[in-house]
Amino acid sequence: MNSKCIYMVMMAVLRLMLTSAQSCPFHMDIAPCLCTEIGPSPELDMDCSHVVDIDQLMRVFQADFPSTNYRRLSMTGTPDDPIPISFLPDGVFGSITFQEIVIQHAQINRVDDYAFLGSKDTLTMLTLIHSELTSFPTTILPLLSDFRELDLSYNHLVFIPDLRSSSLRSLTLAHNTQLNFSDRVFDEIDQIIDLNIAHCNMETIPPGMFLNMMNLSTVYLEYNKITHLDAASLHFTSEVIEEVVLSGNQISAAEPNFFSGTGKHTYLELLNNQITTLGEASWRPVFHAISEHGDGLVMLDGNPLDCGCSLAWLVTSSSFLSHLALGATCANGTAIHDLNPSAFDHNCGR
Ligand SMILES: *[C@@H]1O[C@H](CO)[C@@H](O)[C@H](O)[C@H]1NC(C)=O
Ligand SMILES: *[C@@H]1O[C@H](CO)[C@@H](O)[C@H](O)[C@H]1NC(C)=O
Ligand SMILES: *[C@@H]1O[C@H](CO)[C@@H](O)[C@H](O)[C@H]1NC(C)=O
Repeated sequence: MNSKCIYMVMMAVLRLMLTSAQSCPFHMDIAPCLCTEIGPSPELDMDCSHVVDIDQLMRVFQADFPSTNYRRLSMTGTPDDPIPISFLPDGVFGSITFQEIVIQHAQINRVDDYAFLGSKDTLTMLTLIHSELTSFPTTILPLLSDFRELDLSYNHLVFIPDLRSSSLRSLTLAHNTQLNFSDRVFDEIDQIIDLNIAHCNMETIPPGMFLNMMNLSTVYLEYNKITHLDAASLHFTSEVIEEVVLSGNQISAAEPNFFSGTGKHTYLELLNNQITTLGEASWRPVFHAISEHGDGLVMLDGNPLDCGCSLAWLVTSSSFLSHLALGATCANGTAIHDLNPSAFDHNCGR
């Protein structure tokens, strides 16, 4: 090859590299947002933590963008200085797409139905926490084709409409203290793996609420105001459940048939409730389910358990006892594991 030919090939390669590489807009065009190029390809991240109002944010996304595909948008305020934006209107991000959007400590109380529509084919994760949302436009969910994780914790959500998504894996609604939803809210998010509705002042668990989630692995329901475990309230159809957390509620009673359908490695965590009686009809099936060939555990520390004869079925079964966490105590403070099984055999007519 002669040198002219080599030169032309090099120019062609260079042109290809320049046009295929992702690059940030001119920094003054998008101030106060900051664009960064990450990695060799590179990928682009945008940080808009310092925007002062919604008009400014919208203007930023009308600038001249050489590339429109961004990895992440971050907007991070602080508890004392939340981002002073109260709503996200449709079209706010122009033609820019994101894979991840993380907004925390903002004054956002409203998100228009299609504010995130531009990212419908790219968005995998949305975190909008420590803000003032009273509702969230769940109508967008079925349109987001690869959406995996939604975290709306620490808002003021009052009602979540029935959810629909065939891709969502992780849903966090924790710390929305007035949250309400229908009994069917989770029926059509059947790919869920991690579900967190802790600290929401829930009073009841609708029967069968988890039945469609065949891959469910963790359920966090701690620090609600649940008082009873009604029949079918903890019915699952997932072999891979690892944790069901109900600690810090006000549970005093569990009906027979409240629990079924987990695998053999489930931890049922009921620390710091008000359970007094572990009635055999309600609880034997629980210990049976998690103990047979499994390494599951029931955690009952911090419950004022009555250690009379109603507990004999448990205390006299060393195999069931090996699946009761060590911290469980009688109301008088004696550890269940320290009770003498033969006294129960003798005193309880077994
Ligand atoms: C909660 O939502 C359900 C279902 O839509 C409704 O029937 C019920 O009245 C609501 N409860 C409260 C306290 O708003
Ligand atoms: C559960 O996960 C497996 C693989 O991780 C997947 O093939 C299957 O479709 C999932 N099942 C349901 C009901 O979502
Ligand atoms: C507590 O109650 C259990 C069961 O009745 C009894 O075996 C144990 O001795 C009691 N412990 C104390 C400290 O009184």
